[in-house]
Amino acid sequence: MANIGIIGSGNVGANTAFFVAEKGVADVTLYDIQDGLSTGKALDMMEAAPVRGYRTRIKGSDSTAGVKKNDIVIVSAGGVRQPGMKREDLFEANRSIIDSVAADLVEYTGVVIMVTEPVDALTAYFVEKTKLPRTKVMGLGGLLDSTRLRYLIAHELGVTMDDVSALVVGRHSDAMIPLARYTCVSGVPVTQLMSAERLTELFDETKTAGDVIVTMAQRASAYYGPSAAASDLAEAVCRDSRRVLPVSVTLAGEFGVSGVAMTLPAIVGRNGIHRIILPELSEDEVTRFSRSAADLATMTKSA
Ligand code: 2OP
Repeated sequence: MANIGIIGSGNVGANTAFFVAEKGVADVTLYDIQDGLSTGKALDMMEAAPVRGYRTRIKGSDSTAGVKKNDIVIVSAGGVRQPGMKREDLFEANRSIIDSVAADLVEYTGVVIMVTEPVDALTAYFVEKTKLPRTKVMGLGGLLDSTRLRYLIAHELGVTMDDVSALVVGRHSDAMIPLARYTCVSGVPVTQLMSAERLTELFDETKTAGDVIVTMAQRASAYYGPSAAASDLAEAVCRDSRRVLPVSVTLAGEFGVSGVAMTLPAIVGRNGIHRIILPELSEDEVTRFSRSAADLATMTKSA
């Protein structure tokens, strides 16, 4: 049985532990600096196990000593957005938390899934700090965005979500790039199934989904969607399934970009990213991709 460590036991960390337990793919250790938070939540989840049916173990720890023993570490520690905040407003504060996580994971040989926002900036920052291979550190952004778009398309067309595949690349922000021609219902491009205007509206809903949820809920940013995506990614690693998932990866020349992380589809298995699959981007999409890269580079330099 694989072991997954989750650093940060707030809404995202705890729900990811719960979803992983329900998938039955790994034992989980929740970590948190707040004394008792992770042990309390882990106990709560184990006491639900007789009814929910999972038989893997969830435990908690107030210290990250030994975190490197896990096959996968999911990083969800740090502050979350309040209404009116942008994801990049969290960079400064969350970067110092990522510094201490990075210190715990130098020379780590497993796979890291970065969830803490702003996820693209922190994915690249984490690789820079730890010197881990870029293929071992995956950020969540595009998988969450693609999952949200799958839901919106299925809902619009009245079809099962199982048959909708969607691809969103680029930055996890309103500059994300949904790719209509790679978005299909059982192989039929979605462009044949709805008007261009309606599709643009659904793309816009995907771009603002995170903002809308934090505004609606007032106190908490989204966590069921992010936790579902994080557990899906962890499952692909545990099962060595070679699923093709859109993940944020530190770029090394893809579309002329290096040193910042953004989402591209990748084959995911036991070693993290086995190969990046480059979609064909139009000239306009490459321009938007490059602009996002420049914005990320400016943000990380100026912070
Ligand atoms: C979102 O899009 C949390 O940024 C995350 O909801």
